[in-house]
Amino acid sequence: MKDMTVAIVGAGLIGRSWAITFARAGCKVRLNDPESAALDAARQFIASVGEDLQANGLLGGCTPDEVLDAVRTTVDLGEAVSGAGWVQENGPEKIDIKRAIFGEIEAHAAPEAILASSSSALLPSAIFEAAARPERCLVAHPINPPYLVPAVELVPSDRTSDATMAEAERVMTAVGQSPMVMKREIDGFIVNRLQGALLHEAFRLVAEGYAGADDIDRALADGLALRWSFIGPFETIDLNAPGGVADYVARYEGMYAEMFEGMKHRVDWADAVKGGIEAARREHTTVSGLNDRQVWRDRRLMALRKHKRDADKDIGR
Ligand SMILES: NC(=O)c1ccc[n+]([C@@H]2O[C@H](COP(=O)([O-])OP(=O)(O)OC[C@H]3O[C@@H](n4cnc5c(N)ncnc54)[C@H](O)[C@@H]3O)[C@@H](O)[C@H]2O)c1
Repeated sequence: MKDMTVAIVGAGLIGRSWAITFARAGCKVRLNDPESAALDAARQFIASVGEDLQANGLLGGCTPDEVLDAVRTTVDLGEAVSGAGWVQENGPEKIDIKRAIFGEIEAHAAPEAILASSSSALLPSAIFEAAARPERCLVAHPINPPYLVPAVELVPSDRTSDATMAEAERVMTAVGQSPMVMKREIDGFIVNRLQGALLHEAFRLVAEGYAGADDIDRALADGLALRWSFIGPFETIDLNAPGGVADYVARYEGMYAEMFEGMKHRVDWADAVKGGIEAARREHTTVSGLNDRQVWRDRRLMALRKHKRDADKDIGR
């Protein structure tokens, strides 16, 4: 990707993280934000994680200084976007703001540039409603932080061209991400729909007094997520019955169908938080300690990425 210039618009939590992803793949990165303080903070952040990334083999062979040098910052959106082959927008999650940002992006971007939004929940058909070149526009929704979590959802509107989706998949793969290519848009895309279903059941089990927050966390951290960190739910069940996925469904669909009857009602998440989840979390981490814990989480993620890469090589994918 050495020939590609990438514009990152919005330099908060997600923008700064995309900057690392593209820079370590050899792209020239232009990082834009209207707030120069956000640009300074982004550079400081990129500098702060460089050594850990290098130690875990996650800088694509670059040095921390090379990654930092590849990222040019500017408060001028036009300067960032002109000449870029890929524009990744990471502004606030508000439809009017996104539409205004893309209006400005389209005024400066090359006609052949791919324009992608990191939006978590806004549909591409809404964001790009007034786009002049909707066929080049899509949502590329990362999972925080994208420089450590490679999966990215590529979501078309009904006006995004097949060629754009194919090119987006190629670019994301080339910069080391793991694209999920959606066939059409739906609220929550893939990841937040799956996460929402799981969260809702977790809240319900606590709210209705079946288990505490720590035990629910353990069910994932020391249970399901160990497998899910390298195979998904379909491969998991394919391996959990002697005859594979069809055999699993024949054996267990009835058990789940009965459970689903009791899962139809909503529980109030805020009540569940007040009723015990907040207290359980604060026993482990104070609110003022959350930043340090995020740094810890990201270091654990780096170690996990390194392990996955080594295991892919030693044991096979
Ligand atoms: N935080 C997450 O976990 C997460 C995960 C995936 C996707 N997203 C999505 O990524 C986007 C950014 O989220 P974030 O968490 O980085 O938010 P953030 O608040 O950390 O950063 C937003 C940045 O946008 C800048 N900004 C404001 N107006 C702008 C404009 N007109 N042009 C350019 N930049 C502008 C702000 O100054 C700020 O630096 C949102 O759409 C969000 O839904 C967030």
